[in-house]
Amino acid sequence: MADKIQVFTPSFRVEECLEQIRECLEIGWSGMGFKTVEMEKAWNDYTGLPHSHFLNSATAALHIAVAMLKRKHGWADGDEIICTPLTFVSSNHAVMYENMKVVFADVDEHLCMDPADIERKIGPRTRAVMFVALGGNTGRLKEVAKLCKDRGLPLILDAAHMAGSKLDGKDPGHWADVTCYSFQAVKNLPTADSGMVCFQDKTLDEEARKFSWLGINKDTYARAQQGNYKWKYGVDYVGFKYNGSAVMGAMALVGLKYLDVDNVRRRDIAALYDARFAGAGAIETVPMAADCIPSRHLYQIMLDDRDGLMAHLNAAEIFPGVHYRDNTEYDMYAYGKGTCPKAERASDRLITLPIHLRLSDDDVNRVADEVLKFVKAA
Ligand SMILES: Cc1ncc(COP(=O)(O)O)c(C=O)c1O
Repeated sequence: MADKIQVFTPSFRVEECLEQIRECLEIGWSGMGFKTVEMEKAWNDYTGLPHSHFLNSATAALHIAVAMLKRKHGWADGDEIICTPLTFVSSNHAVMYENMKVVFADVDEHLCMDPADIERKIGPRTRAVMFVALGGNTGRLKEVAKLCKDRGLPLILDAAHMAGSKLDGKDPGHWADVTCYSFQAVKNLPTADSGMVCFQDKTLDEEARKFSWLGINKDTYARAQQGNYKWKYGVDYVGFKYNGSAVMGAMALVGLKYLDVDNVRRRDIAALYDARFAGAGAIETVPMAADCIPSRHLYQIMLDDRDGLMAHLNAAEIFPGVHYRDNTEYDMYAYGKGTCPKAERASDRLITLPIHLRLSDDDVNRVADEVLKFVKAA
């Protein structure tokens, strides 16, 4: 029986991670601070963005992004943010956490939001746009950024898949007001669970630090550096406990060191799949934007009998994924059903083939062989 091939299997540099974590344990600091502060500085340097705040997840980052903008601009409950139905529910839940409403815009051939449809969906209560870079592809992000600027709408970038993607040679976060990255267990920069929120605006970054620490106006690490009155802090409002920990920061620092070389390998795997599927008419691949060097978090194809291919691959010990099921299939977003026909069609036809650093070229060829065998037999 052939070895199982999973859609994602993370690779950790175990000894280096343990060495970094050991430092936390030896000095007795595993929570917020220490390595989280180092990781924030390292992420600023890597992305060129001005502020990075290390959190327990991208879901927390997305909530914070919506919450800070809502407070800054005085948005009301029921005001709207335009987002995509083809995403992990965290993107849309972040809007719901703040009692706002998601209006869905359809996707284009990149499976990212289509600026023309965003424009059509802008209404009197639209307050912001949340762009999701599916698989690390930037799609038409620059056009969306221009549209947002012209219409005075803040742009939130869900960059959960985007660690290491480049747009015109820069981190795509440069085109957004706030960018949210995920370092969850199977992402391109895997930890166990963590994420980063990067505001362009210093005041929002400062506010976000308080919001993610229960509304407390001084974090424990900063207080530990003080002499007197270490124990004394104010609580300005009811915030959330969204902070990242030094142990996760330690893993993230190691992951960051290898992010670029890992992403080169991901792009090589994608190129190998592309070459194998060229000319196989029944298989539709997803074009990367021309100005983007993608992180290649995902390698997606579309075909009519997706479920048949899934069953065929599973029988061959290959376990792909689907990213994502159209969110309007879920009860809380069902009001959006029928508003994004391209996303709906894609959701029925999409399959994510295995892409990760443990795959050899032979493994990738084995997956491609099975896909082509299925398509030829159909
Ligand atoms: C598009 C997208 N947004 C947000 C998230 C949430 O990330 P996290 O698991 O770090 O909360 C994910 C995670 O899979 C995602 O795929």
